[in-house]
Amino acid sequence: MNPPDGSAWEAPVLAEDRAADMETLRDLRADPGIEVVDRLDDQVKELRTVLPSPSRDLLEEAPNWVHYPWRRTVVRVLGPRSFRRLRFDRNRNKLTVQEQDRLREQTVGVVGLSVGSAVAQALALDGLCGTLRLADFDVIEVSNLNRVPGSVVDIGVNKAVTAARRLAELDPYLELCVWPDGVQVDTAAAFVDGLDVLVDECDSFDTKIGLRIEAAKRGVPVVMATSDRGLIDVERFDRNPAAPFHGLFEELRPEHLATLTSREKIPYALRLLGADRLSPRMGASLLEVDRSLTTWPQLGSEVMLGGAAVAAAVRRIGLDMPLRAGRAGMDIDDLLDGLVRPPGPATQPDRAAADSPPEDPVDRVLHAAGRAPSGGNSQPWSITAGSDGLTIAFAADFVPTAIDIRSRGTYVALGAALQNARIAAAAHGILGPVTLAEGDPGRTGKPFATMEFDDGADPVLAAQYDRMLTRGTNRRPCDGSPLSERELEALQVSAGQEGGEIRVVAGTENLAAIAGILAESDRIRYLTGELRREMVAELRWSASGGLESGIDVDALGLDDVERTLLDVALRNDVLDQLEEWDLGQGLGRITGERILRSAAVIAVTAPGPDPADYLRAGMVTESVWICAHGLGLAVQPTSPVFLYAEDDGDLVRLCAPRLQAIRRLRSELERVLGSKPGERHAILLRVGHGTPEPIRSARRSDRVRRSS
Ligand SMILES: Cc1cc2nc3c(=O)[nH]c(=O)nc-3n(C[C@H](O)[C@H](O)[C@H](O)COP(=O)(O)O)c2cc1C
Repeated sequence: MNPPDGSAWEAPVLAEDRAADMETLRDLRADPGIEVVDRLDDQVKELRTVLPSPSRDLLEEAPNWVHYPWRRTVVRVLGPRSFRRLRFDRNRNKLTVQEQDRLREQTVGVVGLSVGSAVAQALALDGLCGTLRLADFDVIEVSNLNRVPGSVVDIGVNKAVTAARRLAELDPYLELCVWPDGVQVDTAAAFVDGLDVLVDECDSFDTKIGLRIEAAKRGVPVVMATSDRGLIDVERFDRNPAAPFHGLFEELRPEHLATLTSREKIPYALRLLGADRLSPRMGASLLEVDRSLTTWPQLGSEVMLGGAAVAAAVRRIGLDMPLRAGRAGMDIDDLLDGLVRPPGPATQPDRAAADSPPEDPVDRVLHAAGRAPSGGNSQPWSITAGSDGLTIAFAADFVPTAIDIRSRGTYVALGAALQNARIAAAAHGILGPVTLAEGDPGRTGKPFATMEFDDGADPVLAAQYDRMLTRGTNRRPCDGSPLSERELEALQVSAGQEGGEIRVVAGTENLAAIAGILAESDRIRYLTGELRREMVAELRWSASGGLESGIDVDALGLDDVERTLLDVALRNDVLDQLEEWDLGQGLGRITGERILRSAAVIAVTAPGPDPADYLRAGMVTESVWICAHGLGLAVQPTSPVFLYAEDDGDLVRLCAPRLQAIRRLRSELERVLGSKPGERHAILLRVGHGTPEPIRSARRSDRVRRSS
């Protein structure tokens, strides 16, 4: 209840659906001395812009009027739930809605509203409690206006009342309770009772001790900021019984401390602050108290820092996050002394011109094979050419990644390498028969494929040589135009030439469905530890050199904004946080958008489950890719994480926690592709028009060689 003496701090909320309240409002409106502020429309308009869109009941919540007697004003505001949703919207997701709800259950008490006013302000801004108890017996004086955010209008008004008024104006739904007589040793118990956290910013030592004794009895944690070198103290009486002030004082009798003068408090303050860690100016000022200074100094800016530090501690306590008992300093001056220049923009290396093929025909065949595409540009092959022919096997150090289930993506790459070798051999008149190993030679070191050198001719293959050399992965966005009939037919023919089959999916609706599936698959890849690690390991930052394998980030076809966001999107701590929230829809956005602007997605069918089936599909893939490239189309494989999974066992190994989600994505993809039951796909290629030439990726020199 507001006292009649002008120290009002309560702001009554008048409900539009309560007749008595509306009568009060009518009386207030009839008073010419009362200002009426009604900007509800703006608030509703703003509420509608919040993401995700607020529920209907929130939008339809009845508004209220709030009467601020000390301002002689009534203001119309959103109802409590919609007001909170909007006011704390920009706190998300530094604080999620669930965390905000949890924190609103807290009751926090602040004693001493000089430094405490900054604390109370920070707590209210962040929404760290639903109820605030504010205690101070003192009134605002001009000499307080260096650190207390009051005004000359408040001179002579109680500090707790001043703080409460400001907070009530900030949030009419915050429960406030003012103790204008402050807290003394004999009232400490009543003040601490029912608190979740006590913030001590008073400066009488007897009260400090009294409050801690009561807090310890009730298991209430105590937080205190001391505005010199950003010192903060946390006492976890809620966790362990402990002596007040971390046991810094052996014998503490509140009665003795009650009558201390500013000067007599100094030994206690010094013990508390630590004589050796005081700032030089604070140390020197202490020696001047009662001589050239009335009391020790405090800067408003340092008080604000203390408010922020206490708020951070209260947040941790409220959310049960790790917070030990102890003290820490946040010395801004120390930090400013240590300023360093941020790293400048990375210098771009001179990109090597496209490597020119060697002269000798056999070397040309080897060079062509080595230019084949492979997942993550891992070049998982060992390709050897003698005078009679060429063999393709696994590289000795090859280890398949988690999404490369049963090395199927690797077989596709080996098949593409074989196809390139055939094209070069045909172009140089040394084409011979090809043999694919039956069964699975696995890691025996035996070749998966061999090609003899002979004098065979194949003009269709030979004609692809130049296009094969300039083929590349083009990850830039396309212009959204569809494939022409001629292009579609050419792509089908290129698959058929190698005895393969493709499914071409086009049209806005189908592409939107694939975009959604692949975007979600990418999100899962980012959020799943092992899959993420492998994805990040594929990337190379050109400025740091070492570009012989892996994917150069410059080849990702990102615009400036996407490129900058990538640096954040690849941080493990950031992704772990998104995983915890199960958010991160933005992580698949690039993939989704690229698919939407493509002309089509082509699925290359694998004729069976064996290595040779995927090798054959790899040859078909390369044939289709080269054809598309020759048509001026951009080509990018976009592999969903589950592409090579055969059954649930594979999916569980891939990402057990998201089994249902991947299963659903897989069947959704099969539906959009129109796959027959049991049909397997070796790769998905998105193709489209309207991009500049792809950026050429480098190759290792040790993966292809001539045998002596
Ligand atoms: C089986 C396979 C899967 C691939 N998956 C992807 C993919 O998911 N995303 C992508 O951007 N590129 C993918 N690629 C393309 C490779 O990253 C690319 O071929 C490699 O970096 C070499 O670059 P280049 O094709 O420009 O020569 C894949 C390639 C193969 C053979």
